[in-house]
Amino acid sequence: MAQYLTARGHEVSGIDAGFRREWVAEMGGRSALPVASVEARLDAFESAYGRRPHLVQDDLTDRDVVYRLFEDARPEAIVHLGECPSAPYSMMDADHAIWVQRNNIEGTMNVLYAMRDLAPGAHLVKLGTMGEYGTPDLDIPEGFFEIEYRGRRDRLPFPRQAGSWYHWSKVHDSNNVMFACRIFGLRATDVMQGVVYGTRFFGSSADHPADPALHTRLDFDQAFGTALNRFCCQSVIGEPLTLFGLGNQRRGFLPICDSMQCLTLAVDNPPEAGDYRVFNQFEETYTISELAAKVAAVASGMGLDPQIRRIENPRKEMEEHHYNPDHDHLLALGYQPTRDMDSEIRAMLEDLLPHHDRIAASREVLLPDIRWDGSRRRSAFLDAGNGAGPDGPAAAKPSVDEPDAGAADVDHAIGAKAAPLARG
Ligand SMILES: NC(=O)c1ccc[n+]([C@@H]2O[C@H](COP(=O)([O-])OP(=O)(O)OC[C@H]3O[C@@H](n4cnc5c(N)ncnc54)[C@H](O)[C@@H]3O)[C@@H](O)[C@H]2O)c1
Repeated sequence: MAQYLTARGHEVSGIDAGFRREWVAEMGGRSALPVASVEARLDAFESAYGRRPHLVQDDLTDRDVVYRLFEDARPEAIVHLGECPSAPYSMMDADHAIWVQRNNIEGTMNVLYAMRDLAPGAHLVKLGTMGEYGTPDLDIPEGFFEIEYRGRRDRLPFPRQAGSWYHWSKVHDSNNVMFACRIFGLRATDVMQGVVYGTRFFGSSADHPADPALHTRLDFDQAFGTALNRFCCQSVIGEPLTLFGLGNQRRGFLPICDSMQCLTLAVDNPPEAGDYRVFNQFEETYTISELAAKVAAVASGMGLDPQIRRIENPRKEMEEHHYNPDHDHLLALGYQPTRDMDSEIRAMLEDLLPHHDRIAASREVLLPDIRWDGSRRRSAFLDAGNGAGPDGPAAAKPSVDEPDAGAADVDHAIGAKAAPLARG
């Protein structure tokens, strides 16, 4: 995000503690696409674009750090992505559950107080997740709905039914941001983001930075890889694409370049002071089976030989459910989806194929063993298979969540000074 906004003429200051690299290493994983050091990435960006984002490597849960950054940057807009994004990571044990909730909630609280004291007119664009809503047997509105109860009507926040400690941290954030808007008069956009995927975040293949140091990471371990990341990596190394249970869990998805477009639209169109608004940010919904079938079709067309298999679902989640969320607010602001999933999957496979050996060397991290009941046991295959791939416990995905879609490490902008005329 920092790269995207800086390239469009915004003056960007960012903070990132570098936790993502530590979390993935803790899971025994590594990015399928090699990631350069932060300094090398900043240098490469400056060589390509003639300017660089100002990046502080520090912790958002340290209030002094956040206040210093606000004093230096005096932001007009704050894009807050700096949280732990993994459901499985938060479900490992009490230590991880509590760490994820503290990290996410405390960081956001520090941002809210820094805004009150140092940037009360700024616009907070806060990353939430579609996973906050869960899978109710109702259509899902954008944040609020009209309800009649015992003869009285009101407009209330739509109930959240999160499915992991991580997702609940985002619900608590949403409540805190909404409350801060009310009591401090702040303005905020809470973005209920669907699963982000893809490797080309600048929008078109032609714009994709040539320097590999600027490419985004792509994780495929059970905690920080998404289903689609794993399916692509599995296709590349000839492992079966593994579905959790029935594979009928449906979620919203959008390509990373369109996520950048949507967040930029939100930045450029702030709400009124005191307003808390919610955007559901996704393009299309797919079941996980549909997703695997798409990857398999594209991979087959590229000469690969993917198989799809089902494994035990380590999560407690509904595998058959209604799913029909609204997503009109961003379209009303001018959001135009630019990529279709098939071409994005093709680009991902093209980017991953040269790293076959790197992925194959870490293939064991695809196997899920973090279970929602707190135990650790690898998921077994639920089908007989067709002879391809291993017979025992299989590779899998920690599902449909958000654990990364490969956002670049330098991408967690917390302060952006708008330069609206310098885009393009
Ligand atoms: N990627 C998705 O599909 C997706 C979907 C929905 C929502 N989200 C949300 O988007 C945001 C970004 O997700 P992502 O997938 O790019 O994850 P990411 O791990 O790549 O980005 C989060 C970054 O925040 C940093 N961070 C975390 N805690 C910090 C702290 N206390 N201080 C400083 N830096 C800290 C991490 O080092 C990491 O680089 C998250 O808030 C996530 O919940 C992501």
